[in-house]
Amino acid sequence: AAERTLSIIKPDAVAKNVIGQIYARFEAAGLKIIAARMTHLSKNEAEQFYAVHKDRPFFKDLVDFMVSGPVMIQVLEGENAIAKNRELMGATDPKKAEKGTIRADFADSIDANAVHGSDAPEAATIEIACFFPALSIYSR
Ligand code: CMP
Repeated sequence: AAERTLSIIKPDAVAKNVIGQIYARFEAAGLKIIAARMTHLSKNEAEQFYAVHKDRPFFKDLVDFMVSGPVMIQVLEGENAIAKNRELMGATDPKKAEKGTIRADFADSIDANAVHGSDAPEAATIEIACFFPALSIYSR
């Protein structure tokens, strides 16, 4: 079914100037960018966005990294968008990511792992609402 997912190009990949290369992969896979904006997250925004991880040992490093520079945030729409985006991204840890995936090609570490993508439909709905009011999403 046509689905939406939230994608974030993280500070490491923005700094590497590979937004366009990552967008090209979304497009080639049939994922349409229906909302997008660049922003530099505040500590509060990053903590809220990753609230599900607040008790994990990596939470502080994750938040520190996510506020270290601007990010590019987008809503992707397409058939099985959530799974498709996760396939394009590869494993969370770039050392374990399959060849040809975004993380294998552009990521340096489990924190500086180039991209985020929603992992389930409920998460996608919540994450999209975090950054985009319905009126700024341009689906046909
Ligand atoms: P992301 O998909 O953005 O969701 C949470 C992030 O936490 C994850 O990508 C990683 O960048 C980061 N992280 C750091 N350590 C871990 C870990 N041990 N397990 C999962 N995520 C981790």
